[in-house]
Amino acid sequence: MDLIVARNREDLVKARAGGEVALVPTMGALHEGHRSLMRLARARADQVVVSIFVNPLQFGPNEDFSRYPRTFDADLEICRAEGVDVVFHPAAEDIYRPERQVSVSSGEMGTIVEGASRPGHFDGVLTVVLKLFNLVQPHVAVFGQKDAQQLALIRRMVADLDVPVEIVGAPTVREPDGLALSSRNRYLSASDRQGALALSRALRAGAAEAAPSRIRAAAQAVLDAAQPELAVDYLVLVDPATFTEVSESYAGPAILAVAAKAGNTRLIDNVTLTLNRARGGLSSES
Ligand code: PAF
Repeated sequence: MDLIVARNREDLVKARAGGEVALVPTMGALHEGHRSLMRLARARADQVVVSIFVNPLQFGPNEDFSRYPRTFDADLEICRAEGVDVVFHPAAEDIYRPERQVSVSSGEMGTIVEGASRPGHFDGVLTVVLKLFNLVQPHVAVFGQKDAQQLALIRRMVADLDVPVEIVGAPTVREPDGLALSSRNRYLSASDRQGALALSRALRAGAAEAAPSRIRAAAQAVLDAAQPELAVDYLVLVDPATFTEVSESYAGPAILAVAAKAGNTRLIDNVTLTLNRARGGLSSES
């Protein structure tokens, strides 16, 4: 069946086909990472819906909302090639009514780490994601692990608000040199991109260590060596469920996450580690 483009709520209702539905929420500027989400969605459902909506609510006043890449025709080709059934591409007025009052709060977890640098960002993300869940009514929704705190908060929202959707996290897709794929990579100049490689190098250096203090120190050393090309915002080693820093005696899964600016482009990246109390074996997953 040919790809249906639903430009508003009414189109979306008409496009409903019955059976299991998988949603891949995106802001467009699609790349190989999004393709991997679509493939996971395809394997899980009868109908795959990709939403393409640059959500104004999740951008701060000095962020890149107006210049965020909008590449709708190329995005449609990618969706078609991946066998997507429906692209939901609403206008902002169709998502946010002028009289709206109520939104989702991401709680304290939305104010730490990435949330400390981007106040209000996660409230905006959760509000649009909940609205997309209500409009599309998916059984499954697929999100990238690259936005690890976003994924953790969406899982939190679904649990706390009893939202009937299964959340699937997908591994980060990287360029051969380690750079995590991101729609914002297209902003990078050649020299910014060189600086940006320090993010994944730092994560690899951290992942080669076993104890939290050594993990942080090894990653920090790589970031320090990349200054001033890279302006580091944070480097944290956190519990994946709460995003609070892990202690030296912590055992279990942990996320080593970094945010930095290469030129004018803010990038984030992370790796999931398993910390053992014995500090003998450690494995990294993404
Ligand atoms: O990860 C993104 O692209 C966005 O934050 C999302 C989940 C589509 C909400 O706008």
